[in-house]
Amino acid sequence: MTSSAIDFEYLRAVVMRNSGNHVDPSRDYLFESRLQRLLRDRGLQSLSQLVSALRSDPGPTLQRSVAEAMTINETSFFRDTSTFDLLREQLLPALIAARQTTRTLRFWSAASSSGQEAYSLAIMLREHFPLLAGWRIDILGTDISAEMVERSSAGRYQRIEVNRGLPARFLVKYLVRTGDEWEVHPDIKRLCRFQQRNLCLPFPSGETFDVIFLRNVMIYFPQDTRRHVLLGMHRSLARDGVLFLGLSEQPRMDTHWQTMLTPKTVWYKPIPA
Ligand SMILES: C[S@@+](CC[C@H](N)C(=O)[O-])C[C@H]1O[C@@H](n2cnc3c(N)ncnc32)[C@H](O)[C@@H]1O
Repeated sequence: MTSSAIDFEYLRAVVMRNSGNHVDPSRDYLFESRLQRLLRDRGLQSLSQLVSALRSDPGPTLQRSVAEAMTINETSFFRDTSTFDLLREQLLPALIAARQTTRTLRFWSAASSSGQEAYSLAIMLREHFPLLAGWRIDILGTDISAEMVERSSAGRYQRIEVNRGLPARFLVKYLVRTGDEWEVHPDIKRLCRFQQRNLCLPFPSGETFDVIFLRNVMIYFPQDTRRHVLLGMHRSLARDGVLFLGLSEQPRMDTHWQTMLTPKTVWYKPIPA
């Protein structure tokens, strides 16, 4: 085995242990580009030096930094519009009717990346459901990456990001131009909060959400981690709640999730335990 092959195997194991993300060996070349900044910040010259630093430092900080730097943060506003259409047209009206007493709705964008999913939800609620103005609305966005959580909380986006999926009328209505960037309006920010959270760790108990978005993250997890996450989601979702996965993902847990096919998209309903 060459020394670089050993380095990559070690790095892949660090990523798996700390984020549950599988890096396929065919994508080893990504370590070089994604870890450049970490190498620079730590004054390291090469991946081999990084591996040596990891081996001699048993603490979690450096390991987590490597895992976070290797996450894929691809996202956009109103990604898979059919999902948002279904929520707006059918699923939310039913949930609103069912929550007339508590007048509370809780949403979780799990693996929220830079926050566009959470802000898309908030914009949709403000735009299409003015009757919710007096309700308690909580949109929680969580991601393993501290950098993504910081970016989401700031709610500032570059032109190329707002050009992806955000209709122009929403851009001018719900974001404010600040220099070269666009910042989410405080009225929308107020509905959202962001936290760093690793889905591979035990889920906090006592949290219940009405709608959970768990999209485009389980593709990176091995089967046992997917199962752990889907069981945690099942405990965290109201009995009449709604789970969305990425369009290429399926729970494959017939005991816990019922697949609800609609003409344009799919959602998952929890089966009572
Ligand atoms: C491809 S993005 C998906 C973003 C958004 N959900 C969407 O569909 O547009 C995947 C996100 O999952 C996050 N992630 C990866 N592993 C994670 C883990 N173990 N716990 C929490 N978030 C994780 C990454 O940091 C990244 O921001």
